[in-house]
Amino acid sequence: MKKNIKDVLWIQCEPVAERDDVVLYKKNFTVSGRIKRAELFVTACGVYCATLNGEKVGMPMAPGFDSYEFRMPYQIYDVTHLLRMGDELNELAISVGRGWYGWFTAEGMPERSKRRSLKAALYVTLEDGTELCIESDGDWRAFSSKCVSSDIYNGEYYDATRADTPLAPVTVTSLKEDELLLLHDGEKICEHERFAPLSAFVTPKGEYVVDFGQEITGYVELALPEAVRAGDVIELSHAEVLDRDGNFYTANYRSAKAKLTYVCRDGAQVYKPEHTFYGFRYIRFDKRPACVDASCVTAIAVYSDIKRTGRIETSSPLLNRLIDNIFWGQKDNFLDVPTDCPQRDERQGWTGDTEVFCRAANYNFDCEKFYARWMRMLAHELNARGHVPCIIPAVWRHKFSAAWSDAATIVPWEVYRAYGDKKFLAEFFPTMKNHVDSVSAATTTPNLWTGGDHYGDWLGLDAAEGSYDGASDHDLIASAYYARSTELTIKAGKELGEDVAKYEELYKNIRATFIATYTPKTQTECILALHFGLTDEKEAVAKRLRDRIVACGRHLETGFVGTPYILHALSENGYTELAYELLLREGFPSWIYSVKCGATTVWEHWDSRNERGDFWSSDMNSFNHYAYGAAIDWIYGVAAGITPAEPGYKSVNIAPRATKKLEYLNVSYETRHGEIKVAWEHKGGKTIYKIKTPCNAHVTIGGESFELAAGEECTKQLDESV
Ligand code: BGC
Repeated sequence: MKKNIKDVLWIQCEPVAERDDVVLYKKNFTVSGRIKRAELFVTACGVYCATLNGEKVGMPMAPGFDSYEFRMPYQIYDVTHLLRMGDELNELAISVGRGWYGWFTAEGMPERSKRRSLKAALYVTLEDGTELCIESDGDWRAFSSKCVSSDIYNGEYYDATRADTPLAPVTVTSLKEDELLLLHDGEKICEHERFAPLSAFVTPKGEYVVDFGQEITGYVELALPEAVRAGDVIELSHAEVLDRDGNFYTANYRSAKAKLTYVCRDGAQVYKPEHTFYGFRYIRFDKRPACVDASCVTAIAVYSDIKRTGRIETSSPLLNRLIDNIFWGQKDNFLDVPTDCPQRDERQGWTGDTEVFCRAANYNFDCEKFYARWMRMLAHELNARGHVPCIIPAVWRHKFSAAWSDAATIVPWEVYRAYGDKKFLAEFFPTMKNHVDSVSAATTTPNLWTGGDHYGDWLGLDAAEGSYDGASDHDLIASAYYARSTELTIKAGKELGEDVAKYEELYKNIRATFIATYTPKTQTECILALHFGLTDEKEAVAKRLRDRIVACGRHLETGFVGTPYILHALSENGYTELAYELLLREGFPSWIYSVKCGATTVWEHWDSRNERGDFWSSDMNSFNHYAYGAAIDWIYGVAAGITPAEPGYKSVNIAPRATKKLEYLNVSYETRHGEIKVAWEHKGGKTIYKIKTPCNAHVTIGGESFELAAGEECTKQLDESV
């Protein structure tokens, strides 16, 4: 028997469900004979949660977040151990909630979402070789679920006392999605860390609040005591922060209600949400019976199963906490697709946030598979729309903005740089070219990227009062990214042995026109000109950047575009100590400022909370936006000096730059070829460097260069008085 979920029909409920209703599909069956293997293939137009004989099967938030207009992911689970043989009845139960699919508005999709369409096939192989298939068909029954309603933004309502009430018979159909099916091609989504409450307290407003001590993406598990009675109601709200007075603060979630309501049955019971997730550090009990308190809740972090590869430890506890916050920002925003934030009514795959953080992400964790999946979505969207929209999957706002849409070239290049897989690069080389071509077609001035609607240096501190848009010139930023994307496309083409003459010519023209047209003035403008190689007057522009930093009070004023590169632009041009100063600055505005305010993740704004303790605004103020955490790549790449000499670290350049501003730095980075270790410390008037490399290394320390063979270690001491 060919196991092919494509040929299996969909079942759906009629009449269509209310907006957030969850529908439960069930099938009872027996299997006569000894079971050798049983596999469940399943997907749904929504988020599904499957159980076989009462045991949960599969990953949270399945089938995952995707560009459903072009791709429909499904999963395969080995369920051999859960299946009963002989006369014993098996029950396969799969509930379907609105999920991410319900966000899409393209033709036919809202209808399918409301019908909670499900496709499932259980393939059973018996020991005698017989093969059986239990698949979604007219024999399945639909019920209203104990999970009464569920929505990504608003949360879940579960009534454990509710009987499974039959709905109208299911209808059976094929759908457009049959042509779009693919086995989920990313890292699977998993539950990871569990957090017991750090503290529980009553706020000045009289609210009973639990602090888990860490902002996470995931949900709360309730483990309720024997004393709980049927009909008792537990209602929880979620929040990232407390306000200045110590009260629970939810205004920055905007329209996302992020609630959890649970109606108890009698006695001890355990429950956790099944079709949604929350971004939170605190919960507030809005309702609870007297026997339920903080001891009944555990927070569970849920994110894609990426493998950690980077570790950094320094002599500064504040910097160490910032590094932890950056790691958490990544975990919290790596739930199947890279998102901007996990809590308010967005949680979208913003392309700008993704490209800004991509290099950092690849040092912290092995992200190749995770990004490959997202890039495939991006490629589909680009092909369909003629440009890369700013959100992938393109749920809303199909805007075409420089720096955001340039994820099309930056992400493939960064992933190739980190892992060295030519197949990966070859898969996305056409996308890189298409993106550059789409800019060439859209611009109003040849060899620059002018016109259009851009986000600019989003959230730059040099923005006019009340504006999100930093002071940097949109056309300059866009043209710099046009150059950058073209340059990366050339590099990729050369790696692949492709003819890139057309792009070389284009790059030459863009660079010359850029230099003839623009004089970089703001911090971000100078940073782009320097870091993207778009100036013939490096020294003067670098000095201008330094002067601007000094003039505004020795701090950065950059937004999404300038921030990821500011430290590089400085250290590449003789200002390494100033870069360290910015990185380690404690006062506002700085990375460490948020740490000093108690942050456990990276903030969206430098002043998400100002020095008076007030919020920037309730309108757009996330405390878990990883974009500014991009700075961590400078610690790996410059402070520890680990950069690939060949893509994927077949060989490595190691050029650490110690500072007296820190006593020591220890960094390790696990490449596909093994772990690179770099450490430096100041001791007895010397700076001592220790290096270990699994691949051939070209090492530069204190201006002196030498080669280190794969597997070698070295210690080098430099006299600090020299
Ligand atoms: C998101 C950002 C995103 C931006 C576009 C915001 O609402 O949260 O992170 O990149 O819009 O400018």
